[in-house]
Amino acid sequence: MKDLRGKVAVVTGGAGGIGQALGRRFGGEGMKVVLADVLADPLDEATRALADNGIEAVGVVTDVTDYSSVEALATEVLRRFGAVHVVCNNAGTGGVSEGYMWEHDLADWRWGIDVNVLGVIHGIKAFVPILLEQGDGHVVNTCSGNGGFAPIARGAMGGPATAVYPMTKAAVLCLTESLYTHLQMTGTRVRAHVLFPGGFLNTGIWESWRHRPPRYAATQQRRTPEPTLAKVVERFEAAGARVEFTPLESVADQVVDGIAADRFWMMGPPTPADQVVSAKAASILARGEPDYLVDVLGQHAEAEPAAEGGMR
Ligand SMILES: NC(=O)c1ccc[n+]([C@@H]2O[C@H](COP(=O)([O-])OP(=O)(O)OC[C@H]3O[C@@H](n4cnc5c(N)ncnc54)[C@H](O)[C@@H]3O)[C@@H](O)[C@H]2O)c1
Repeated sequence: MKDLRGKVAVVTGGAGGIGQALGRRFGGEGMKVVLADVLADPLDEATRALADNGIEAVGVVTDVTDYSSVEALATEVLRRFGAVHVVCNNAGTGGVSEGYMWEHDLADWRWGIDVNVLGVIHGIKAFVPILLEQGDGHVVNTCSGNGGFAPIARGAMGGPATAVYPMTKAAVLCLTESLYTHLQMTGTRVRAHVLFPGGFLNTGIWESWRHRPPRYAATQQRRTPEPTLAKVVERFEAAGARVEFTPLESVADQVVDGIAADRFWMMGPPTPADQVVSAKAASILARGEPDYLVDVLGQHAEAEPAAEGGMR
């Protein structure tokens, strides 16, 4: 789809972070924008900000873990705009688990899987038939190098990183590959894309625990404080890393450019993290050890007493 003007975009997780940036960029391209999010007030604010900039925007409170809610979103989009052309399954929740993976709270697993995996599946199920009927459109699923490439072994807070988040993002990559082939088999022009937001991003994902829904309430007593972005930055700086946030606009550029070029892998320019991909391929081909597993700073994780988990 070369010309986005007048087309309709739906972005889940649109109330903040990357989703909000996508909404702004799509609006800037002359698209009508539907932001969907489970958080009503931030959604309202984000939608109003778009409208204040002359963008035709609608906010629809949606819980991607609930299929009937995503179906209702699709119905509302068609009612308002009569079509949908770009669907970004972007809503996500970050790492809240602490300790080793066998110590993670089952409620953390369920929450992560429901939002990050089932949420994407719900988006595909509700929207792809509409796109197929139109004969054109794009599905963009937000993945992460953390899981999409390989799981980050040690988290930003020093202890073992959560195993929940990367597992869900590995699933997002896998199901987007399946979506790509299934769409191809039908001969449609509808395309699937996988988005890898690059760099260090200042979004709510680092502190997802602030909006933990009651039905995923923790069932275990926490031993360590919840991670905060401020603490993560502090640790990075203490480790000698230069902390610089990547503008969210560059992630939106990856998406708009990727749509224009029909690019499956929506990624930024090559970074040192790409080496994990080749090291992993080499390890598989050599039937070796997974020695490509690194920490959040790209360093090899060495044994250290467990401290805190938590990763985007
Ligand atoms: N920030 C990063 O560094 C980074 C890196 C790679 C991938 N990602 C991915 O990007 C996507 C967007 O995250 P972000 O970084 O902008 O974080 P964010 O927390 O700012 O945005 C995520 C949005 O998803 C919404 N959400 C959570 N649960 C939901 C539900 N059940 N239904 C509907 N909406 C729900 C949240 O309310 C929030 O507005 C996520 O999928 C995340 O995993 C982020």
